[in-house]
Amino acid sequence: MYINLFDSHVHSDNSPEGEDLTMSLCSAAVDKGISGICITDTCAMDEFEEQRYGKRLMYSCFAARKARDVFAQQLIVTNGVEMCQPQANPERAREVIGKQRFDFVLGSLHKIRKYGDMQQIDYAQPGLDIQDVFRSYYEELLEVVDWNGFDSLAHLGYPLRYLKPYGKTVDLAAIDDVFAEIMKRLVANGRALELNTGGLRMEIEAFTPSNKYLKMYKDYGGEMITIGSDSVRGEHIGCDIQEGMELLKSVGFKYFTFYKERQPIMLRLL
Ligand SMILES: [Fe+2]
Repeated sequence: MYINLFDSHVHSDNSPEGEDLTMSLCSAAVDKGISGICITDTCAMDEFEEQRYGKRLMYSCFAARKARDVFAQQLIVTNGVEMCQPQANPERAREVIGKQRFDFVLGSLHKIRKYGDMQQIDYAQPGLDIQDVFRSYYEELLEVVDWNGFDSLAHLGYPLRYLKPYGKTVDLAAIDDVFAEIMKRLVANGRALELNTGGLRMEIEAFTPSNKYLKMYKDYGGEMITIGSDSVRGEHIGCDIQEGMELLKSVGFKYFTFYKERQPIMLRLL
């Protein structure tokens, strides 16, 4: 049983998919005995204007800072962002981040140029080359890694979440060359990798990434892992974080990482 539970990936109602106010998320976290959370509302650079992300992020940061004061004695509250598709507009993505005093930035990829939104792909369509979908995703993810304006790379196994319901498989080992490149560059840039527990609440029923890729990151010299539930409502805050910590320990990590003012804090897996 771990006592230092930190959830570094939480969405409030300032994200399009979020349902609860930051205050109620914090209240849920306190009830669950969590030590700290980072509010990482979504900002997608490919639809920045349409979704009014500038305003959303401003409100997200206001709410997180207010909650930090309200819950000061009970919970550490930091303000972050899930920066999605930064490679769609790298300069603007940097500008957006520079406008707020973020504690933490997740780098993330949901949509790619060749196949669009990974959540919307119809894997049942005849003739679809699933290997190519996945290779294309990870090659474009390398562009996110090279953008390098984030602290931790979010949900590395993201497309697997949406393949599983079709009962189809992909040979991920066939694109290990791209994964190796991702890990090498993350480590060279001093960036963390996220262990996302959200998949455990989906059909895939698995951590993203799996232990194979956590080990790959470690083998290339990576030491910083952030853990996040990817929750969009209070009831899922902190879900499976304990299990995630166990997994990290089994892979050989001695610490996990939580960010404050864009600086990594290494917390022992006790
Ligand atoms: Fe995401």
